[in-house]
Amino acid sequence: MTTACTPAPTAATSKSDANGRPSSLAIWVRQPWMLRVGTTNLLIRGTSARDLAAVGAMHGRCSARTLLDRYRAGGRAPSAVAIERALRRTLGFVACTGRGEIVAMAVAGADPAHQAGSAEIGVVVQDDWQRQGLGRELLTHIAGAAFVCGYNQLIAYPATTSTAAQQLLTVVGRTYAVPDPPNPHLHTYLTESSTLGLGAVREHLAC
Ligand SMILES: CC(C)(COP(=O)(O)OP(=O)(O)OC[C@H]1O[C@@H](n2cnc3c(N)ncnc32)[C@H](O)[C@@H]1OP(=O)(O)O)[C@@H](O)C(=O)NCCC(=O)NCCS
Repeated sequence: MTTACTPAPTAATSKSDANGRPSSLAIWVRQPWMLRVGTTNLLIRGTSARDLAAVGAMHGRCSARTLLDRYRAGGRAPSAVAIERALRRTLGFVACTGRGEIVAMAVAGADPAHQAGSAEIGVVVQDDWQRQGLGRELLTHIAGAAFVCGYNQLIAYPATTSTAAQQLLTVVGRTYAVPDPPNPHLHTYLTESSTLGLGAVREHLAC
């Protein structure tokens, strides 16, 4: 948990890597932070292999509609193998209650269907936690984290929530829809200012 208020580096003062990325911001990518949702404190942190059971349980609490919108697999939850793979990603994040329940997850990784620098993004928020800002919180973080990791655009493949996903993605960058059957998707451009969305950086700046 991040509680101490040490100075957070800003995009303006960070050294850049060979691609012009603020390399010193890399330490903030997997840095956990706290979020208050209603009366509940949530910890948002990087995923680990130990999250397999809790992420499986979260999927069990999601409606078929939510699973369809996230995974486009007929409303079914992903297999344990697919979850394990997602949990190993550098850009994998979960929101946890104090009881250790996971209520939301966001992952991103290279999208082989698009040019280099494109990251496919997936966000799922358990139904009874939706519309409380959690999706936006995870997305703004993962957008900054993806930029730090060398990506310059996010690609999302929503099923029936294209409008909601587009509104959500517009928060993090310029977004346009590609109504490309059978895989309509959304592109969102990332810029250096995306790094201001890193969760722990925002938490430090708010101190
Ligand atoms: C899409 C999803 C991730 C949004 O998460 P969330 O925590 O409910 O979203 P937030 O509360 O942070 O909403 C942020 C903004 O997104 C938009 N939005 C979110 N859900 C919406 C909905 N059902 N209808 C219309 N707009 C919506 C709104 O602009 C909202 O801002 P507002 O509440 O100020 O109006 C969540 O509904 C979900 O898990 N859906 C199923 C999976 C999915 O569709 N993933 C996206 C593709 S990978």
